[in-house]
Amino acid sequence: MKYLDLAYTKPYLMSLNPGREMDVAILGRPEIARAFAEFGASPALGRALDGERFDIRGLRTPARGDGYDPVPENNPELPVVQFVFHLTGLTPGERVFYRVTLETADGTRVEGGIYDFRAAPEAGQPFTFALMSDLQLFRPCDHTIHQLGRRAPDFILFAGDMINVAWHVGDWFTVPGAWQPEKMIGMSFFDIMQRDDDGVRLMQYAPVFPCPGNHETDDNRVEGNRQWALEFDRYSWRIYMQIWRAYYPDGEYGWHGKHWYSLDYANMHIDSLMVVRCNPWDPYEAPGTILRGGEPGPDTPQGRWLAEDLRASKSRFKWVVMHWHMMNRGDDTQPLLCQPAPDPADPARVIYPVDNAGRFLHPLFAETGVCAVNYGHSHVYERYLIDGVNYIEAAYMGVKYGKPDGQVNPSGVYPVNQQHDFRSYLIVSCDGEHLRAKAYQASVEPNGYGYEGRVFDCFDIR
Ligand SMILES: [Fe+2]
Ligand SMILES: [Fe+2]
Repeated sequence: MKYLDLAYTKPYLMSLNPGREMDVAILGRPEIARAFAEFGASPALGRALDGERFDIRGLRTPARGDGYDPVPENNPELPVVQFVFHLTGLTPGERVFYRVTLETADGTRVEGGIYDFRAAPEAGQPFTFALMSDLQLFRPCDHTIHQLGRRAPDFILFAGDMINVAWHVGDWFTVPGAWQPEKMIGMSFFDIMQRDDDGVRLMQYAPVFPCPGNHETDDNRVEGNRQWALEFDRYSWRIYMQIWRAYYPDGEYGWHGKHWYSLDYANMHIDSLMVVRCNPWDPYEAPGTILRGGEPGPDTPQGRWLAEDLRASKSRFKWVVMHWHMMNRGDDTQPLLCQPAPDPADPARVIYPVDNAGRFLHPLFAETGVCAVNYGHSHVYERYLIDGVNYIEAAYMGVKYGKPDGQVNPSGVYPVNQQHDFRSYLIVSCDGEHLRAKAYQASVEPNGYGYEGRVFDCFDIR
Protein backbone atom coordinates (compact mmCIF):
# COMPACT_ATOMS: atom_id res chain seq x y z
CA MET A 1 0.00 0.00 0.00
CA LYS A 2 1.25 3.48 -0.90
CA TYR A 3 0.56 6.87 0.69
CA LEU A 4 -1.90 7.92 -2.05
CA ASP A 5 -3.86 4.67 -1.62
CA LEU A 6 -5.06 6.15 1.67
CA ALA A 7 -4.68 9.89 1.15
CA TYR A 8 -6.26 12.05 -1.54
CA THR A 9 -3.76 14.88 -1.10
CA LYS A 10 -0.23 15.48 0.01
CA PRO A 11 0.10 17.76 3.05
CA TYR A 12 -0.78 21.44 2.82
CA LEU A 13 -0.12 24.32 5.20
CA MET A 14 -2.29 26.98 6.80
CA SER A 15 -1.89 29.25 9.84
CA LEU A 16 -3.24 32.40 11.44
CA ASN A 17 0.05 32.75 13.32
CA PRO A 18 2.68 31.54 10.83
CA GLY A 19 5.69 32.64 12.90
CA ARG A 20 4.77 30.43 15.86
CA GLU A 21 2.29 27.82 14.65
CA MET A 22 1.53 25.84 11.53
CA ASP A 23 -1.35 23.52 10.72
CA VAL A 24 -0.29 20.71 8.42
CA ALA A 25 -3.38 19.09 6.85
CA ILE A 26 -4.19 16.22 4.52
CA LEU A 27 -7.40 14.98 2.93
CA GLY A 28 -7.93 11.24 2.66
CA ARG A 29 -10.13 8.18 2.83
CA PRO A 30 -12.14 7.23 5.95
CA GLU A 31 -10.09 4.04 6.25
CA ILE A 32 -7.40 6.16 7.89
CA ALA A 33 -7.83 5.28 11.55
CA ARG A 34 -4.94 7.35 12.80
CA ALA A 35 -2.46 9.81 11.36
CA PHE A 36 0.63 11.33 12.87
CA ALA A 37 3.26 13.81 11.77
CA GLU A 38 6.94 13.61 12.59
CA PHE A 39 8.84 16.86 12.52
CA GLY A 40 12.14 18.43 13.45
CA ALA A 41 14.91 20.81 12.45
CA SER A 42 16.41 18.39 9.94
CA PRO A 43 15.16 15.53 7.74
CA ALA A 44 15.98 13.25 10.67
CA LEU A 45 12.74 14.65 12.18
CA GLY A 46 12.54 13.38 15.79
CA ARG A 47 9.30 14.60 17.32
CA ALA A 48 5.82 13.23 16.65
CA LEU A 49 2.31 14.58 16.87
CA ASP A 50 -1.11 12.97 16.36
CA GLY A 51 -3.50 14.56 13.87
CA GLU A 52 -6.94 15.85 14.73
CA ARG A 53 -9.60 14.18 12.58
CA PHE A 54 -12.49 15.97 10.85
CA ASP A 55 -15.10 14.76 8.40
CA ILE A 56 -15.30 16.92 5.28
CA ARG A 57 -18.94 17.19 4.22
CA GLY A 58 -20.37 18.14 0.85
CA LEU A 59 -17.94 16.65 -1.71
CA ARG A 60 -19.62 14.43 -4.28
CA THR A 61 -18.49 11.99 -6.97
CA PRO A 62 -20.25 11.89 -10.37
CA ALA A 63 -23.52 9.98 -10.39
CA ARG A 64 -22.79 8.57 -13.82
CA GLY A 65 -19.90 7.17 -15.76
CA ASP A 66 -20.02 10.20 -18.03
CA GLY A 67 -20.50 13.04 -15.64
CA TYR A 68 -22.19 14.73 -12.69
CA ASP A 69 -25.94 15.03 -12.38
CA PRO A 70 -26.66 18.78 -12.28
CA VAL A 71 -28.56 18.40 -9.00
CA PRO A 72 -25.89 17.98 -6.29
CA GLU A 73 -28.03 15.69 -4.10
CA ASN A 74 -28.36 13.19 -6.97
CA ASN A 75 -24.64 12.52 -6.83
CA PRO A 76 -23.23 10.33 -4.05
CA GLU A 77 -21.40 12.15 -1.28
CA LEU A 78 -17.83 10.95 -0.94
CA PRO A 79 -16.69 10.32 2.62
CA VAL A 80 -13.51 12.40 3.01
CA VAL A 81 -11.56 12.84 6.21
CA GLN A 82 -9.17 15.61 7.04
CA PHE A 83 -6.34 15.23 9.52
CA VAL A 84 -4.82 18.42 10.89
CA PHE A 85 -1.52 18.43 12.77
CA HIS A 86 -1.21 21.53 14.94
CA LEU A 87 2.49 22.39 15.17
CA THR A 88 2.99 24.97 17.92
CA GLY A 89 5.91 26.59 19.73
CA LEU A 90 7.81 27.34 16.53
CA THR A 91 10.60 29.91 16.50
CA PRO A 92 10.13 32.63 13.88
CA GLY A 93 12.26 31.98 10.82
CA GLU A 94 13.09 28.36 11.70
CA ARG A 95 12.97 25.69 9.02
CA VAL A 96 10.79 22.73 9.93
CA PHE A 97 10.99 19.35 8.21
CA TYR A 98 8.02 17.02 8.48
CA ARG A 99 6.48 13.79 7.26
CA VAL A 100 2.92 12.50 7.57
CA THR A 101 2.24 8.82 8.30
CA LEU A 102 -1.19 7.24 7.92
CA GLU A 103 -2.40 4.09 9.66
CA THR A 104 -5.39 1.81 9.06
CA ALA A 105 -7.39 -0.02 11.74
CA ASP A 106 -5.39 -3.20 11.17
CA GLY A 107 -2.14 -1.34 11.81
CA THR A 108 -0.95 -1.00 8.21
CA ARG A 109 1.17 2.15 7.89
CA VAL A 110 2.07 4.28 4.89
CA GLU A 111 4.52 7.17 4.95
CA GLY A 112 4.33 10.35 2.91
CA GLY A 113 7.33 12.26 1.64
CA ILE A 114 9.51 14.54 3.76
CA TYR A 115 8.79 18.22 3.14
CA ASP A 116 9.87 21.41 4.84
CA PHE A 117 8.62 24.94 5.43
CA ARG A 118 9.91 28.08 7.06
CA ALA A 119 8.05 29.64 9.97
CA ALA A 120 7.39 33.31 9.25
CA PRO A 121 10.49 35.29 10.21
CA GLU A 122 10.71 38.21 12.64
CA ALA A 123 9.93 41.67 11.32
CA GLY A 124 12.86 43.00 9.33
CA GLN A 125 13.85 39.61 7.88
CA PRO A 126 13.52 38.80 4.18
CA PHE A 127 10.76 36.72 2.62
CA THR A 128 9.17 36.06 -0.75
CA PHE A 129 5.58 35.41 -1.77
CA ALA A 130 3.50 34.72 -4.85
CA LEU A 131 0.13 36.03 -6.00
CA MET A 132 -2.26 33.50 -7.45
CA SER A 133 -5.94 33.12 -8.32
CA ASP A 134 -8.45 31.62 -10.75
CA LEU A 135 -6.93 28.23 -11.56
CA GLN A 136 -10.35 26.57 -12.16
CA LEU A 137 -8.80 23.49 -13.80
CA PHE A 138 -7.67 25.37 -16.88
CA ARG A 139 -4.96 23.23 -18.40
CA PRO A 140 -2.45 26.05 -19.08
CA CYS A 141 -2.40 26.83 -15.33
CA ASP A 142 -0.27 23.77 -14.74
CA HIS A 143 2.49 25.18 -16.93
CA THR A 144 2.23 28.62 -15.27
CA ILE A 145 2.17 27.28 -11.71
CA HIS A 146 5.05 24.95 -12.46
CA GLN A 147 7.20 28.01 -13.27
CA LEU A 148 5.90 29.91 -10.25
CA GLY A 149 6.61 26.96 -7.94
CA ARG A 150 10.24 26.88 -9.01
CA ARG A 151 10.59 30.36 -7.46
CA ALA A 152 9.97 28.67 -4.06
CA PRO A 153 7.80 31.32 -2.40
CA ASP A 154 7.57 31.37 1.41
CA PHE A 155 3.81 31.81 1.17
CA ILE A 156 1.04 32.19 -1.41
CA LEU A 157 -1.75 34.77 -1.48
CA PHE A 158 -4.60 33.05 -3.29
CA ALA A 159 -7.34 35.45 -4.40
CA GLY A 160 -10.11 32.89 -4.91
CA ASP A 161 -11.56 30.68 -7.67
CA MET A 162 -9.53 27.57 -6.91
CA ILE A 163 -12.08 25.32 -8.62
CA ASN A 164 -15.17 25.60 -10.83
CA VAL A 165 -17.82 23.71 -8.85
CA ALA A 166 -17.09 23.31 -5.16
CA TRP A 167 -19.12 20.12 -4.62
CA HIS A 168 -17.42 18.33 -7.56
CA VAL A 169 -14.79 16.36 -5.70
CA GLY A 170 -12.79 16.02 -8.92
CA ASP A 171 -12.32 19.78 -9.02
CA TRP A 172 -10.32 19.57 -5.79
CA PHE A 173 -8.39 16.33 -6.23
CA THR A 174 -8.35 13.23 -8.39
CA VAL A 175 -10.46 10.31 -7.16
CA PRO A 176 -9.38 7.15 -8.98
CA GLY A 177 -12.28 5.76 -11.03
CA ALA A 178 -14.44 8.89 -10.78
CA TRP A 179 -15.29 10.58 -14.06
CA GLN A 180 -13.53 13.80 -15.03
CA PRO A 181 -13.79 15.90 -18.19
CA GLU A 182 -11.01 14.83 -20.53
CA LYS A 183 -9.44 18.29 -20.69
CA MET A 184 -9.31 18.61 -16.91
CA ILE A 185 -7.62 15.32 -16.06
CA GLY A 186 -4.68 16.05 -13.78
CA MET A 187 -5.74 19.70 -13.44
CA SER A 188 -7.56 19.44 -10.10
CA PHE A 189 -6.60 22.13 -7.59
CA PHE A 190 -4.46 19.88 -5.41
CA ASP A 191 -3.00 18.10 -8.46
CA ILE A 192 -1.58 21.37 -9.77
CA MET A 193 -0.77 22.95 -6.43
CA GLN A 194 1.06 19.93 -5.00
CA ARG A 195 3.42 19.07 -7.82
CA ASP A 196 6.88 18.67 -6.38
CA ASP A 197 8.92 17.51 -9.36
CA ASP A 198 11.60 19.64 -10.97
CA GLY A 199 12.29 21.79 -7.91
CA VAL A 200 8.67 22.97 -7.63
CA ARG A 201 7.78 24.06 -4.07
CA LEU A 202 4.12 24.85 -3.52
CA MET A 203 1.50 23.88 -0.96
CA GLN A 204 3.58 21.29 0.92
CA TYR A 205 6.24 23.94 1.51
CA ALA A 206 4.43 27.27 1.73
CA PRO A 207 1.27 28.22 3.61
CA VAL A 208 -1.57 29.48 1.43
CA PHE A 209 -3.49 32.55 2.63
CA PRO A 210 -6.72 32.38 0.61
CA CYS A 211 -9.96 34.27 0.21
CA PRO A 212 -13.16 32.85 -1.32
CA GLY A 213 -14.10 33.57 -4.93
CA ASN A 214 -17.46 33.19 -6.62
CA HIS A 215 -16.65 29.55 -7.47
CA GLU A 216 -16.14 28.62 -3.82
CA THR A 217 -19.87 28.85 -3.00
CA ASP A 218 -21.16 25.36 -2.07
CA ASP A 219 -23.99 25.32 -4.61
CA ASN A 220 -23.45 27.68 -7.53
CA ARG A 221 -26.92 27.02 -8.93
CA VAL A 222 -27.85 30.28 -7.18
CA GLU A 223 -26.08 31.99 -10.05
CA GLY A 224 -28.53 30.68 -12.58
CA ASN A 225 -31.75 31.15 -10.65
CA ARG A 226 -33.04 34.65 -9.97
CA GLN A 227 -35.26 33.53 -7.14
CA TRP A 228 -32.59 31.49 -5.40
CA ALA A 229 -29.98 34.20 -5.82
CA LEU A 230 -32.03 36.40 -3.50
CA GLU A 231 -32.64 33.70 -0.87
CA PHE A 232 -29.71 34.24 1.43
CA ASP A 233 -30.04 30.93 3.26
CA ARG A 234 -29.21 29.13 0.00
CA TYR A 235 -25.65 30.40 0.24
CA SER A 236 -22.96 28.66 2.17
CA TRP A 237 -19.21 28.26 1.95
CA ARG A 238 -18.90 25.06 3.96
CA ILE A 239 -16.67 23.06 1.59
CA TYR A 240 -14.09 25.82 1.13
CA MET A 241 -14.14 26.74 4.83
CA GLN A 242 -13.69 23.13 5.96
CA ILE A 243 -10.66 22.63 3.71
CA TRP A 244 -9.18 25.93 5.00
CA ARG A 245 -10.52 25.57 8.53
CA ALA A 246 -7.53 27.22 10.22
CA TYR A 247 -8.73 30.60 8.91
CA TYR A 248 -12.35 30.13 9.89
CA PRO A 249 -12.22 28.52 13.35
CA ASP A 250 -15.82 29.47 14.12
CA GLY A 251 -17.10 27.59 11.06
CA GLU A 252 -19.76 30.18 10.26
CA TYR A 253 -20.61 28.83 6.83
CA GLY A 254 -23.73 30.83 5.98
CA TRP A 255 -24.51 34.25 4.52
CA HIS A 256 -24.13 36.08 7.82
CA GLY A 257 -20.98 34.22 8.84
CA LYS A 258 -17.47 35.57 9.23
CA HIS A 259 -15.65 34.88 5.97
CA TRP A 260 -12.67 37.12 6.61
CA TYR A 261 -9.53 37.07 8.76
CA SER A 262 -6.18 38.74 9.21
CA LEU A 263 -2.71 37.65 10.21
CA ASP A 264 0.86 38.90 10.46
CA TYR A 265 3.74 37.53 8.41
CA ALA A 266 7.04 39.14 9.48
CA ASN A 267 6.43 42.90 9.08
CA MET A 268 3.40 42.43 6.82
CA HIS A 269 -0.20 42.47 7.99
CA ILE A 270 -2.52 40.57 5.66
CA ASP A 271 -6.30 41.02 5.54
CA SER A 272 -8.33 38.44 3.62
CA LEU A 273 -11.85 39.54 2.67
CA MET A 274 -14.90 38.07 1.01
CA VAL A 275 -15.92 40.42 -1.77
CA VAL A 276 -17.82 38.39 -4.35
CA ARG A 277 -20.66 39.30 -6.67
CA CYS A 278 -23.40 37.04 -7.95
CA ASN A 279 -23.87 38.13 -11.54
CA PRO A 280 -25.93 35.81 -13.69
CA TRP A 281 -27.66 38.57 -15.62
CA ASP A 282 -27.23 42.12 -16.90
CA PRO A 283 -26.07 44.07 -13.84
CA TYR A 284 -28.56 46.89 -14.35
CA GLU A 285 -31.51 44.61 -14.96
CA ALA A 286 -33.62 43.91 -11.83
CA PRO A 287 -32.87 42.30 -9.42
CA GLY A 288 -29.27 43.29 -10.20
CA THR A 289 -26.05 41.65 -9.12
CA ILE A 290 -25.81 41.10 -5.42
CA LEU A 291 -22.74 40.93 -3.22
CA ARG A 292 -22.61 37.57 -1.48
CA GLY A 293 -22.49 37.78 2.26
CA GLY A 294 -23.13 41.52 2.11
CA GLU A 295 -21.40 44.58 0.77
CA PRO A 296 -18.00 45.78 2.01
CA GLY A 297 -19.42 49.02 3.39
CA PRO A 298 -18.71 51.09 6.50
CA ASP A 299 -21.84 49.86 8.31
CA THR A 300 -21.46 46.15 7.61
CA PRO A 301 -19.84 43.53 9.86
CA GLN A 302 -16.98 42.97 7.42
CA GLY A 303 -16.45 46.69 6.83
CA ARG A 304 -16.45 47.55 10.54
CA TRP A 305 -14.06 44.68 11.28
CA LEU A 306 -11.74 45.74 8.45
CA ALA A 307 -11.55 49.37 9.54
CA GLU A 308 -10.81 48.37 13.13
CA ASP A 309 -8.29 45.74 12.08
CA LEU A 310 -6.34 48.01 9.71
CA ARG A 311 -6.28 50.90 12.18
CA ALA A 312 -5.00 48.64 14.97
CA SER A 313 -2.13 47.15 12.97
CA LYS A 314 1.34 48.64 13.42
CA SER A 315 2.94 46.50 10.71
CA ARG A 316 5.34 48.13 8.26
CA PHE A 317 3.33 46.73 5.33
CA LYS A 318 -0.41 46.13 5.09
CA TRP A 319 -1.81 44.01 2.31
CA VAL A 320 -5.40 43.12 1.40
CA VAL A 321 -6.48 40.09 -0.64
CA MET A 322 -10.02 39.76 -2.03
CA HIS A 323 -11.56 38.11 -5.08
CA TRP A 324 -13.47 40.96 -6.69
CA HIS A 325 -11.47 43.65 -8.46
CA MET A 326 -11.77 47.22 -7.28
CA MET A 327 -9.97 48.56 -10.33
CA ASN A 328 -10.27 46.88 -13.69
CA ARG A 329 -10.97 47.62 -17.34
CA GLY A 330 -14.23 46.10 -18.47
CA ASP A 331 -17.79 45.70 -17.34
CA ASP A 332 -17.23 43.92 -14.07
CA THR A 333 -16.24 46.94 -12.00
CA GLN A 334 -18.99 49.14 -13.33
CA PRO A 335 -21.65 48.23 -10.76
CA LEU A 336 -20.27 49.83 -7.61
CA LEU A 337 -19.48 47.64 -4.62
CA CYS A 338 -22.87 47.82 -2.97
CA GLN A 339 -26.15 45.97 -3.13
CA PRO A 340 -28.53 46.99 -5.94
CA ALA A 341 -31.55 49.19 -5.29
CA PRO A 342 -34.66 49.68 -7.47
CA ASP A 343 -34.23 52.35 -10.12
CA PRO A 344 -36.84 55.04 -9.30
CA ALA A 345 -37.17 55.79 -13.01
CA ASP A 346 -37.73 52.21 -14.19
CA PRO A 347 -38.95 49.27 -12.06
CA ALA A 348 -37.32 46.78 -14.44
CA ARG A 349 -33.91 48.29 -13.70
CA VAL A 350 -31.65 48.75 -10.68
CA ILE A 351 -29.10 51.30 -9.58
CA TYR A 352 -26.05 50.99 -7.34
CA PRO A 353 -26.35 54.01 -5.14
CA VAL A 354 -23.27 53.69 -2.90
CA ASP A 355 -19.66 53.51 -4.03
CA ASN A 356 -18.06 51.42 -1.29
CA ALA A 357 -14.87 51.02 -3.33
CA GLY A 358 -14.30 54.73 -3.95
CA ARG A 359 -15.95 56.16 -0.84
CA PHE A 360 -15.05 53.61 1.83
CA LEU A 361 -12.42 50.99 0.93
CA HIS A 362 -9.97 53.16 -0.96
CA PRO A 363 -9.97 56.04 1.56
CA LEU A 364 -9.58 53.49 4.36
CA PHE A 365 -6.64 51.85 2.59
CA ALA A 366 -4.99 55.21 1.92
CA GLU A 367 -5.56 56.38 5.52
CA THR A 368 -4.21 53.22 7.14
CA GLY A 369 -1.23 52.80 4.81
CA VAL A 370 -2.31 49.71 2.90
CA CYS A 371 0.45 49.25 0.33
CA ALA A 372 -1.30 46.78 -1.95
CA VAL A 373 -4.56 45.05 -2.70
CA ASN A 374 -4.57 41.98 -4.91
CA TYR A 375 -7.56 40.32 -6.49
CA GLY A 376 -8.60 38.15 -9.42
CA HIS A 377 -11.78 37.19 -11.26
CA SER A 378 -11.08 38.85 -14.62
CA HIS A 379 -8.04 36.65 -15.30
CA VAL A 380 -5.91 39.56 -16.51
CA TYR A 381 -2.65 41.28 -15.63
CA GLU A 382 -3.38 44.86 -14.64
CA ARG A 383 -2.07 47.10 -11.92
CA TYR A 384 -2.97 50.55 -10.69
CA LEU A 385 -1.34 52.97 -8.27
CA ILE A 386 -3.72 55.39 -6.57
CA ASP A 387 -2.75 57.54 -3.57
CA GLY A 388 0.05 55.11 -2.75
CA VAL A 389 -2.15 52.00 -2.87
CA ASN A 390 -1.19 49.40 -5.47
CA TYR A 391 -4.15 47.51 -6.94
CA ILE A 392 -2.89 44.35 -8.58
CA GLU A 393 -4.70 41.73 -10.60
CA ALA A 394 -2.05 39.15 -11.52
CA ALA A 395 -4.57 36.57 -12.62
CA TYR A 396 -3.86 35.56 -16.22
CA MET A 397 -2.54 32.11 -15.25
CA GLY A 398 -4.70 29.94 -17.50
CA VAL A 399 -7.20 31.82 -19.62
CA LYS A 400 -7.85 35.52 -20.16
CA TYR A 401 -11.32 36.98 -19.63
CA GLY A 402 -10.83 40.72 -19.31
CA LYS A 403 -11.36 43.43 -21.85
CA PRO A 404 -7.99 45.12 -22.33
CA ASP A 405 -9.71 47.95 -24.21
CA GLY A 406 -12.74 48.00 -21.93
CA GLN A 407 -14.08 51.07 -20.23
CA VAL A 408 -12.11 52.47 -17.35
CA ASN A 409 -13.20 51.59 -13.81
CA PRO A 410 -15.28 54.10 -11.82
CA SER A 411 -12.18 55.73 -10.29
CA GLY A 412 -11.31 57.03 -13.78
CA VAL A 413 -7.69 55.97 -13.28
CA TYR A 414 -5.94 54.01 -16.03
CA PRO A 415 -3.63 51.08 -15.22
CA VAL A 416 0.08 51.76 -14.79
CA ASN A 417 0.66 48.51 -16.61
CA GLN A 418 -1.56 45.96 -18.30
CA GLN A 419 -0.27 42.95 -20.19
CA HIS A 420 -2.64 40.51 -21.80
CA ASP A 421 -0.46 39.14 -24.60
CA PHE A 422 0.69 36.11 -22.60
CA ARG A 423 0.15 34.24 -19.32
CA SER A 424 2.05 35.51 -16.30
CA TYR A 425 2.65 35.28 -12.56
CA LEU A 426 3.89 37.73 -9.96
CA ILE A 427 6.45 37.27 -7.17
CA VAL A 428 7.01 39.83 -4.39
CA SER A 429 10.25 39.88 -2.44
CA CYS A 430 10.91 41.68 0.83
CA ASP A 431 14.53 42.35 1.80
CA GLY A 432 13.34 43.22 5.29
CA GLU A 433 12.67 46.88 4.56
CA HIS A 434 11.42 47.10 0.97
CA LEU A 435 8.96 45.22 -1.18
CA ARG A 436 9.77 44.65 -4.83
CA ALA A 437 7.38 42.95 -7.24
CA LYS A 438 8.37 41.20 -10.44
CA ALA A 439 5.89 39.94 -12.99
CA TYR A 440 7.13 37.08 -15.16
CA GLN A 441 5.98 36.00 -18.59
CA ALA A 442 4.82 32.37 -18.45
CA SER A 443 3.88 31.54 -22.05
CA VAL A 444 4.51 32.48 -25.65
CA GLU A 445 1.15 32.79 -27.36
CA PRO A 446 0.44 32.75 -31.14
CA ASN A 447 1.21 36.50 -31.17
CA GLY A 448 4.85 35.50 -30.63
CA TYR A 449 5.69 38.08 -27.96
CA GLY A 450 8.62 37.57 -25.61
CA TYR A 451 9.84 34.41 -23.93
CA GLU A 452 9.08 32.41 -20.80
CA GLY A 453 10.75 33.69 -17.65
CA ARG A 454 11.05 37.28 -18.94
CA VAL A 455 10.41 39.97 -16.33
CA PHE A 456 7.96 42.32 -18.02
CA ASP A 457 6.98 44.44 -15.03
CA CYS A 458 9.10 45.34 -12.02
CA PHE A 459 8.05 47.81 -9.35
CA ASP A 460 8.59 48.79 -5.74
CA ILE A 461 5.73 48.68 -3.27
CA ARG A 462 6.06 51.28 -0.54
FE1 LIG B 1 -14.31 34.80 -10.15
FE1 LIG C 1 -12.19 33.17 -12.04
